Amino acid sequence: MDSKRLAGEAAVNYVEDGMLLGLGTGSTVYWSLQKIGELVQSGLRIRGAPTSAETEKIARQLGIPLIALSEVSELDLTIDGADEVNPDFQLIKGGGGALLREKMAASISRRFIVVVDNSKYVPALGQFPLPVEVVPFGWQITRRQISGFGCEPVLRQVHGSPFVTDNGNYILDCQFAALEAPEELHRQLNLIPGVVENGLFVNMADMVIIGASDGSIETKV
Ligand code: A5P
Repeated sequence: MDSKRLAGEAAVNYVEDGMLLGLGTGSTVYWSLQKIGELVQSGLRIRGAPTSAETEKIARQLGIPLIALSEVSELDLTIDGADEVNPDFQLIKGGGGALLREKMAASISRRFIVVVDNSKYVPALGQFPLPVEVVPFGWQITRRQISGFGCEPVLRQVHGSPFVTDNGNYILDCQFAALEAPEELHRQLNLIPGVVENGLFVNMADMVIIGASDGSIETKV
C-alpha cells in the first residue's frame, strides 16, 4: 500500500462543497489532487488555488477549477505535504522548492492539513536539510550570514545550474547539526537581508495525516 497515497487521499474527506482550497505541492498531495479531480468530475463544486506551477499543471489536467493564489484573501482549507513533521506540528517544507507560496497559502487558510508518510513523522526536526529561499543577487553574502546559525548552506542545483523557484529565487539547503529551537530559528533567518522565506512552518498546521505502508492511517489533531 502506498503510504503517501493513503495520507493524500484521506485528507480529501475534509473537503466540502463550495470550498476554496489551497492546493499544496509534491508527491503526496498529488494523490489528494487525483481524488479531488475525481470528485469534481462527479459534481463537487470547489475552486483550488495552486501553490506551484507544477500543481497548477496537474490540477488543470484533472479539470479542477482554479483561481490564482494571488487573487485570494482567505482559503477554507489547504492540503499540503511536508519533508518533516515533529509532535508539536512544526514542519520542514520546501524539498520541492515551493515553500514560499505554500507558506502564503497556509497563512491565509482557516484549516491547514498536512499529509505525510510515516517516515517523515520525527521526534525532532533537522535530519532533512532546511530549504531557505533567497534572492539571487548576493546569495553568497546571504549564505555566509545563514552559516552563522550553525549550518553549511548548499546552493540547490539542477544539471549544474542553480535551481530557480517559481518566484525567480534560489534555494539554499541548510543542514544543521541540531535544529533545537525551530520557532526562534525561523524568526532569525527571516531577518537576514536576502532571505525571502525559510521552510520552517511553525504554529500553522491544524491536523497531520500520516499514512503507513501496512495500510494504516493516523490522524493527529
Ligand atoms: C514542496 O516545496 C514541499 O514543501 C513539499 O510539500 C514537500 O517536499 C513534500 O513533498 P512530497 O510529498 O513529494 O514528499
